[in-house]
Amino acid sequence: MLDLSTLISCASVDFIWSSDMDLQLLVFLLKVELLLCMSFSEAVSTSLKPGDAQDFLEKYGYLHEQEHTHSADKVTSAVRQFQWLSHLPITGRLDSTTLLKMASPRCGVKDRGSSKAWARRVNSIFTGQSQQHFRKKRYTRPGGKWYKQHLTYQIVNWPRHLSKGPVRLAVRTAFQLWSNVSGLVFHELSEGPTDIRLAFYEGEHNDGTSNAFDGPGGALAHAFFPCRGEAHFDKAERWTLSGHKGHNLFLVTAHEIGHTLGLEHSPVRHALMSPYYKKLGRSLLLSWDDITAVQQLYGKPSGGAVMQIPSQDLSWAMQDWELSEEPMGDLTQPHYCRNTFDAITMDGNGTVLIFRGGLFWTVTSEGNGSAPLPLKQRWPQLPFAIEAAAFSPLDGKLYFFSGKRIWRYSGTVLDLGFPRKSSECDMPRHPDCAFFYAPLGHMVVFKGSRYFVLNLETLRSEPYYPRGLGDWKECRDGPTAS
Ligand SMILES: *[C@@H]1O[C@H](CO)[C@@H](O)[C@H](O)[C@H]1NC(C)=O
Ligand SMILES: *[C@@H]1O[C@H](CO)[C@@H](O)[C@H](O)[C@H]1NC(C)=O
Ligand SMILES: *[C@@H]1O[C@H](CO)[C@@H](O)[C@H](O)[C@H]1NC(C)=O
Ligand SMILES: [Zn+2]
Repeated sequence: MLDLSTLISCASVDFIWSSDMDLQLLVFLLKVELLLCMSFSEAVSTSLKPGDAQDFLEKYGYLHEQEHTHSADKVTSAVRQFQWLSHLPITGRLDSTTLLKMASPRCGVKDRGSSKAWARRVNSIFTGQSQQHFRKKRYTRPGGKWYKQHLTYQIVNWPRHLSKGPVRLAVRTAFQLWSNVSGLVFHELSEGPTDIRLAFYEGEHNDGTSNAFDGPGGALAHAFFPCRGEAHFDKAERWTLSGHKGHNLFLVTAHEIGHTLGLEHSPVRHALMSPYYKKLGRSLLLSWDDITAVQQLYGKPSGGAVMQIPSQDLSWAMQDWELSEEPMGDLTQPHYCRNTFDAITMDGNGTVLIFRGGLFWTVTSEGNGSAPLPLKQRWPQLPFAIEAAAFSPLDGKLYFFSGKRIWRYSGTVLDLGFPRKSSECDMPRHPDCAFFYAPLGHMVVFKGSRYFVLNLETLRSEPYYPRGLGDWKECRDGPTAS
């Protein structure tokens, strides 16, 4: 799925570059958009089947793996534990929200020790117990921490679709995140033995069957507690740094480093060490709980002051890493093609617009590609990045979707009354994808396992929608235009 959409995204650009046939191009573009939509949707929409819930609870340490039959009481208690750590209503039942949560992208490390570790952390805050004393007495579970402050690391191999330069910067910054709030210091070594090693693997990779990677979605990465010093990433994920779609390699690396330092999962909602994947939000990346946990093991930074940079600055930094990358080797491939994009659409003049993170590229119908431009330059009111974009030939306007809002532009001028709340238009928040679908004469917006139809005249949903993705199966599986 991952490779397919990447392949198609680049194939579409090649196709655009070599063809003058507008209709064929349109059909092809539609297929690309559809494929893009479907692959995002499928990755996020699935919910766990109740029969698989037991495997999940075993895999993540809520039930003992050896015993294959579990009493109803044990299962209920395991489900309650899971719900507590995941901020769900604690019912002890495998209801639909719980099954959905179990299927969402997360870290592959077991949650087993999390609640005990958290209780210890909170206890030490309230009792003000000397951390040194506390650590000696109760933290000495085997392999719980490194007995040195100076650690080395190495990137063993590399993800697909991202160049080495940006990956190296992302990893360095992820380590810096932790060294800026603790007594630790990190150094990268490109060869020789190191304390911590980061590597990308696919499927089964000699960590035991329960640790085998599961393709896109599900477990994204896992790591081992000290002093094994290994962090493994699922090579089959769609890794990105500046894109809005896919999984952010910097965030996941920062989380896995936490494990290699001895940190367990955190039940605090905004904590980096929370087991579920989140996007970079507005709040600082490390929560009080992350900082407390690492300081209890390694003390405060040598200067004493904790240093964190705002998340917005991190977003800009990631974009700069990707742009500053040396155009080595494959010069024939434009930049936007070396990675995946967030959205693609074609305006009234046949110019294709490609969006990724805070940037966009244009490719004219003659095939002239532009350099990347900041979104803000042409559409100043947009947020840092958008989730979906689509041009409507009906009104000649460009629609953008991000979070809970919709923007509508005539050229570069924002229309009066916009941005508008998605809910006012009966549209979903955080859509996966959108495009104008001529046969219906309306805008189609994809989200999870459903699609919505937006009437652009009334700016409301058409009756009888949303509907399931099944309607599009035939389109997608049909022969492609090329
Ligand atoms: C760490 O702190 C330094 C300054 O001490 C700062 O330049 C850097 O951006 C910080 N890095 C992170 C990831 O917070
Ligand atoms: C199409 O091109 C014309 C002339 O270059 C320009 O004025 C117009 O804004 C363009 N339309 C779109 C939708 O970009
Ligand atoms: C496209 O690029 C070619 C070669 O660089 C140039 O001659 C041509 O004028 C460009 N066309 C447009 C519309 O910019
Ligand atoms: Zn984890």
